[in-house]
Amino acid sequence: EPPVPAIGPLTGRHVLVTSGPTHEPIDPVRYIANRSSGAQGTAIAAALRDLGARVSFVTGPAEIPPPAGVEVIRVQTAREMREAVEAALPADAAVMAAAVADWRVANAQDHKIKKDGIGSAPVLEFSENPDILAWIGRLREGRPRLVVGFAAETDDVLAHASAKLQRKRADWIVANDVSPATGIMGGTENAVTLITADGAEAWPRMPKDEVARKLAARIAEALGQPPQ
Ligand code: CTP
Ligand code: CA
Repeated sequence: EPPVPAIGPLTGRHVLVTSGPTHEPIDPVRYIANRSSGAQGTAIAAALRDLGARVSFVTGPAEIPPPAGVEVIRVQTAREMREAVEAALPADAAVMAAAVADWRVANAQDHKIKKDGIGSAPVLEFSENPDILAWIGRLREGRPRLVVGFAAETDDVLAHASAKLQRKRADWIVANDVSPATGIMGGTENAVTLITADGAEAWPRMPKDEVARKLAARIAEALGQPPQ
């Protein structure tokens, strides 16, 4: 039976969430991608849904299934993701949790690349993908009121994350340290710092579901009471 929509502080709001990796083809059987399970984006979409939001969930090929009770838009590449995001607007808020591949293969082949039998390897050429967060953050018309980005860094976390807030015109950046020693990458917990125009707020390490609930509550607070 269809799930009963939750009634909550985000009832009547539309929130867009990107999640998962993108896959950028090399040929029909090979691709390049970032590491991303999709766990944090999926948890955020579920938490927003639980507060009553209508959620558009634009996801690349993630390891874990999308949550129930959200509108799922499946994409493969960064360019498809950008178009799906545009098609899902307008939205009250956008949360860009996807690990978008920064580059696509410019010389991708329509046919499987075969080994040449003499040990030489193909040379890949790359072009930069659209920056979906920067695009939505800088929208002149139809920009969501609250634009939230992520910054997974291994060094100088706060400096890099604050630079991203500025450069992409995001309202908030959820920053985390993903250096191998933290064990965050691929795990079930996350330790994030919420960066806003007012400063940086470090949250204790907690399960990704809990980070998601805390973030969803902050989004509801920021959007305020919906019009009756
Ligand atoms: N992002 C995006 N589209 C891209 C690249 C990134 O929407 N093509 C978004 C991510 O979803 C995330 C934020 O931008 O919310 C930061 O991503 P990140 O990879 O940390 O930033 P980049 O600008 O790509 O910088 P770099 O990878 O060089 O650190
Ligand atoms: Ca990147």
